[in-house]
Amino acid sequence: MHQSALIIGASGDIGTVVARRLAKAGWSLYLHYFHSEQRISQLQAELQQTYPKQDFFVLQYDLTVEAHLDELTERLFQVDAVIFAAGITTYGLFSETTSQQIEQLWEMHIKLPMLLCQRLAPKLAKNQCGRIVFVGSVYGGSGSAMEVGYSTVKGAQSAFANAYAKEVASLGITVNVIAPGAVDTQMNQQFSTAAKENLKMEIPASRLARPDEIAYWVAALLDPAAGYLTGQTIYVSGGWRK
Ligand SMILES: NC(=O)c1ccc[n+]([C@@H]2O[C@H](COP(=O)([O-])OP(=O)(O)OC[C@H]3O[C@@H](n4cnc5c(N)ncnc54)[C@H](OP(=O)(O)O)[C@@H]3O)[C@@H](O)[C@H]2O)c1
Repeated sequence: MHQSALIIGASGDIGTVVARRLAKAGWSLYLHYFHSEQRISQLQAELQQTYPKQDFFVLQYDLTVEAHLDELTERLFQVDAVIFAAGITTYGLFSETTSQQIEQLWEMHIKLPMLLCQRLAPKLAKNQCGRIVFVGSVYGGSGSAMEVGYSTVKGAQSAFANAYAKEVASLGITVNVIAPGAVDTQMNQQFSTAAKENLKMEIPASRLARPDEIAYWVAALLDPAAGYLTGQTIYVSGGWRK
């Protein structure tokens, strides 16, 4: 039987590349999206055509709404791995960050993923080889001015992985965080060319990561041979900050 993974945020730049890499490795996938319906439909069609013997299902869900979480979980059959690759950031001084923004950051990055982990644990435990991977951020370790709320919830993802890993290790489930530095994606399109050049000068590798350089590590954690690594945050940042 094929192994199945749920990718939360498969419609995002990193999530899409993770999906392609896992599909290539033989995984069947639940592809989650929120607004990017066209993008996810195209991805589903592409994967189904390239890997006709695997299954690719699409799920739409707003990760800030707890009410439909049970409904979402009931639509999942076999889940051997879950990857949390959804995310948003708010850019600005913390003194100007609203309660609503903090709530949204918290729900999307931490609260709903935690509740989903609770619901999926029995499925993940089935084969003694379950995997939970968060796409975190280097900011969760080092903190960033102007993205204080985002840095906080990214740090919380690492804290959750560290603690929860200890509870589920005996069930064969690993919980880890792949924490990218700056990745060449839509999320960074808001920065001017000059700001991006300045950023590159700060990064020891002198460039942003390609999304596939993040997906590589996510896929590596899903390998059965990676079963002894748990509760860790792996910084994939070209030597930047962490
Ligand atoms: N890009 C970077 O430089 C970078 C660096 C470090 C860490 N990261 C982290 O890596 C992860 C992926 O980033 P990315 O660059 O791939 O971002 P992206 O392209 O902007 O994708 C964001 C994803 O989050 C989903 N999403 C947004 N709001 C949602 C909501 N309310 N409910 C459910 N899903 C929602 C989006 O779904 P729809 O598009 O379907 O709405 C999309 O799939 C994030 O956690 C991010 O914090 C990124």
